[in-house]
Amino acid sequence: MCGIFGYVNYLVDRSRGEILETLLQGLQRLEYRGYDSAGVAVDGADKNDVWMYKSVGKVAALRELVAAQCGDPGQRFDCHVGIAHTRWATHGQPSPQNAHPHRSDPGNEFVVVHNGIVTNYRELKALLTSKGCVFETETDTECIAKLCKYVYDTNTHRNLDFSGLTRLVLAELQGAYGLLIKSVHFPGEVMATRKGSPLLIGVKTDKKLKVDFVDVEFPEGGHGSLTEDMQHLSVQGAPVGATGSLLAAPSPLAAFRNDLRNELRHSQSRAFMSEDGVPMPVEFFIASDASSVVEHTKKVLFLEDDDIAHIYDGELHIHRARREAGQSTTRSIQTLEMELNQIMKGNYDHFMQKEIFEQPESVINTMRGRVDFDKKTVTVGGLSAFLGSIRRSRRIIMVACGTSYHSCLATRAIFEELTEIPIVVELASDFLDRRSPVFRDDSCVFVSQSGETADSILALQYCLEREALTVGVVNTVGSSISRQTHCGVHINAGPEIGVASTKAYTSQYIALVMMALALSDDKLSKTARRHEIIDGLGRISAQISDVLKLDESIKQLITTELVAHKSLLVLGRGYQFATALEGALKIKEISYMHSEGVLAGELKHGVLALVDEDLPIILLATRDSLYPKVVSAVEQVIARKGKPILICNDGSDTFVQQHSGIALRTLEVPATVDCLQGLLNVIPLQLMSYWLALQRGHNVDFPRNLAKSVTVE
Ligand code: F6R
Repeated sequence: MCGIFGYVNYLVDRSRGEILETLLQGLQRLEYRGYDSAGVAVDGADKNDVWMYKSVGKVAALRELVAAQCGDPGQRFDCHVGIAHTRWATHGQPSPQNAHPHRSDPGNEFVVVHNGIVTNYRELKALLTSKGCVFETETDTECIAKLCKYVYDTNTHRNLDFSGLTRLVLAELQGAYGLLIKSVHFPGEVMATRKGSPLLIGVKTDKKLKVDFVDVEFPEGGHGSLTEDMQHLSVQGAPVGATGSLLAAPSPLAAFRNDLRNELRHSQSRAFMSEDGVPMPVEFFIASDASSVVEHTKKVLFLEDDDIAHIYDGELHIHRARREAGQSTTRSIQTLEMELNQIMKGNYDHFMQKEIFEQPESVINTMRGRVDFDKKTVTVGGLSAFLGSIRRSRRIIMVACGTSYHSCLATRAIFEELTEIPIVVELASDFLDRRSPVFRDDSCVFVSQSGETADSILALQYCLEREALTVGVVNTVGSSISRQTHCGVHINAGPEIGVASTKAYTSQYIALVMMALALSDDKLSKTARRHEIIDGLGRISAQISDVLKLDESIKQLITTELVAHKSLLVLGRGYQFATALEGALKIKEISYMHSEGVLAGELKHGVLALVDEDLPIILLATRDSLYPKVVSAVEQVIARKGKPILICNDGSDTFVQQHSGIALRTLEVPATVDCLQGLLNVIPLQLMSYWLALQRGHNVDFPRNLAKSVTVE
């Protein structure tokens, strides 16, 4: 939810001003992940000094503070570590104090930025307070900085290196983290580690790297005892005051530390080894997502959960506390396919607007190389080897949150029709709350734009534990869901920066339809239907472009009809129920207008009581087999003096008018195959939410209380 950015330059000469600019620019790119406060830490006048700047509000406010307060921007560093953070508050109000980085002490010996939640922070805080630590903030994160200093101070032999210290600290933490640690005791070094929260490292060198991977380093021999020692230290679940060796001195910790340094393997990292033995100039960019790194380098390494990355002397080392069977012993340095212009607004006023208008292109990217419109075939490489197993499943469970959940609902019927496998669609949080039964012969599909949504990841882990086959339908390459599932589809919509999901929805929708088509290509009886859908997919991009031409009339409609209202309903049935839910979600999250997506068939079971001449109602009335029933919903609304706005196909309004005798306001969209119509119908609703929010004076890219990528439960 928060954004982390770190910058390390080694043998690359940079001024403090340039370093701060890199950090602030990185934060600005991550701002969509959280934007209630921000902060940055850089070296001060000498290596024993860290300067921190923190402010409430967006990164622009931090930029002003830095410009006003930072001394000597011209001071030069050829080796430096800077860390920065943009926050979405979970513990404690947004305030300069609660903003990250958090420090161990007034001398800033250890400073940390953290994304996630330390669930046992109360116990840690009580423990550390009893040891004399004075806490300054209401955050869970501060205990990490304090714990670092506590471990450092009690290591009187000074035989712990930075990664050893970090391992001891991490052994005490429960919960989730993406974490950077900087310390005056380890100048020019940074620790970067993750558990349940994304973190990647961009690498920039002039020379080509020797190998495109980094070895994972494990403690040599005796790692069993390491684990035991860590367990012994653990405060997890233990009552405060009875937490073992952290309280006791001298402790087994001291003996353990004596050995630890020797246990660590300090090999040279092969990727960074230069031909001539002369150290190579290098820059590292550590971030919670790739959009902030791509302008510097496309070479990135995605950390895995429990990886402890240690950057020093121009090298990147990855440590793990223990070796586990079947686990990869390298991390590859991959090349991002993302382009800088994909994360810029270009000529648009907002990312959301840009992303809505990108849909004619993003849907093509989702289908590129997968749908052959001439041969009428669909090949989804990431699924090919698993199609047989999925076809044999007892049922398919789709699990997601928010908009991604709606894309599952939108495609459930066509999935059932084509695959003839029972489909269950679950909200991740509710699925987990119910501990819903899952079996080995279930296939579980996790749909997520970010691939980092905590509820969806927990649901994925739940299904993995039950040995179900897991499939990811994800936008973000390298994300947790895409790495932890057995197989899957990248939707290839490109980076989505606007907090409201728009192009990801249409691409998820198409990816799921493609999956249903691929699963049913062995069924002769479905051939005609499959061909009809593939032809429909072939036309969809041009049709989306046509719908986008409604932009100006939608803007007018908002001004004249909707902007002053407090509430609205969006009605649809069949395939359009999901569109109604998605439209209502878009409207409420961006414009803060109460809106409800209602199944038109449910109207008479209660919702009709709300209908009068004042309540705006948007009715999804495109023509499919349920159209006569939708018309009857229109009539019910009109009979209660309601004046619905119809999203309909050409000529539908005449039909409705003949029935009702009233001239209705309509937004006409092209007709397509029933199961794809939602791709077109949702677009006027996306545009409505955009214009509603703007006309009500809200910042559409930064809606209050929300952030992209919900990495907390
Ligand atoms: C709404 C929206 C959210 C997300 C939800 C799931 O516009 O963006 O409802 O869809 O938080 O996020 P992902 O898809 O990243 O798992």
